[in-house]
Amino acid sequence: MSRNLSMIRDVDQHKDQAVTIGCWLHNKRSSGKIQFLQLRDGSGFIQAVVVKSDVPNEVWDAAGKLTQESSLYVTGTVREDTRSKSGYELTVTGIEIIQVSSDYPITPKEHGVDYLMDHRHLWIRSPRQRAILVIRAQIIRAIQQFFDERGFHLVDPPILTPSSCEGTTNLFHTKYFDEDAFLTQSGQLYMEAAAMALGRVYSFGPTFRAEKSKTRRHLIEFWMIEPEMAFITHEENLEVQEQFVSHIIQSVLDNCGKELEVLERDTTKLKNIQAPFPRITYDEAISFLQANGHEIEWGEDFGAPHETAIAEKYDKPVFITHYPTEIKAFYMKPDPNRPEVVLCADMIAPEGYGEIIGGSQRIDDPELMEERFTEHELSREAYQWYLDLRKYGTVPHSGFGLGLERTVAWICGLDHVRETIPFPRLLYRLYP
Ligand code: 4AD
Ligand code: MG
Repeated sequence: MSRNLSMIRDVDQHKDQAVTIGCWLHNKRSSGKIQFLQLRDGSGFIQAVVVKSDVPNEVWDAAGKLTQESSLYVTGTVREDTRSKSGYELTVTGIEIIQVSSDYPITPKEHGVDYLMDHRHLWIRSPRQRAILVIRAQIIRAIQQFFDERGFHLVDPPILTPSSCEGTTNLFHTKYFDEDAFLTQSGQLYMEAAAMALGRVYSFGPTFRAEKSKTRRHLIEFWMIEPEMAFITHEENLEVQEQFVSHIIQSVLDNCGKELEVLERDTTKLKNIQAPFPRITYDEAISFLQANGHEIEWGEDFGAPHETAIAEKYDKPVFITHYPTEIKAFYMKPDPNRPEVVLCADMIAPEGYGEIIGGSQRIDDPELMEERFTEHELSREAYQWYLDLRKYGTVPHSGFGLGLERTVAWICGLDHVRETIPFPRLLYRLYP
């Protein structure tokens, strides 16, 4: 039998008409002769009202049998209802139960995080988790739109790689038949090759870091957007980044008002986020931290408390630029006036969300790249192809990587990145 199903998000197009919706029972309340069904179909939530005196006995009884997360087809008339959140209500005329669900493990009472994480496959049905995943999808849409509209091409770097990009300490090792292989930490090196072929490119894919850190900002598997641009210098790279992040925020504000409301996100803080963003140098950041009681010396990397202290001075993301060459990746271009620092920037989000972007201008000089290979003891065999890029028509180029989950956590105002991805891989969690 084919049913002409409607979606809850579209009920406003069916005012005073009959619709049938495939859905689940989220919650139920009854007052004698009336049952109020809170229904969800993934596209939204709606209240359906069953009035005993207006429906056949079977329909009344079917409504009575429905338990949390039972699946059904409901038929009813769409009524405008200014009191309800969605603005619409359904007056039920028919119910066809697909399955009565028993003992659904996530009840409206409070559950601990571990319990919820064990039931992540069901937890994602809850209104809060749904809102987060909808916003994540919108952020991805905004990202693709931003680059597609600016002449970038999407390029997919490999996941299985013979060598590392961001150092060897947190590589996931695997066998590739008889060879050793690693899950990618970043597609950047391949994106540099792609930029020399297509000019402006971006990748969007999963990256893996076997980080032994159990913090609210770290995942083992996370998604990164990595643009790479030929003929673009450090300063222009920062301009692309601030435009990019402003665009993402605006797109979520424009399209996800309901979801931000479910999350009770203070959107006044997001409305501020418009380019340009403030910039401070690493040197200035160190002086500021030292003046404010932090024990940190020039040459040390920032930890989360440092980043948060710096971010608190601003109501927008802030760029920290020109880090010491020593503590940054081998491929970053030294400042020609001051080779002890590199032409790089980390973008630190406001409200304590930490680094959301890492980027830099890349070394384009073949001799300097050779020197770095020696210093960092990189295998010329594994990376010969990368050295070729500096040999055959090298050009100035820059790029960056935005961590999707940290961006989602910030925009949604979440305590932890574990809720930003459907099935998080954490230090002690591979299930479900
Ligand atoms: O700063 P990172 O390590 O930069 C790179 O990988 C460069 N190759 C990017 C490039 O220039 N193409 O990582 C980039 C971003 C970080 O700013 C952070 O947002 C995110 O990736 N990130 C993580 N997110 C969640 N969990 C982790 N363990 C992360 N590690 C990095
Ligand atoms: Mg970084």
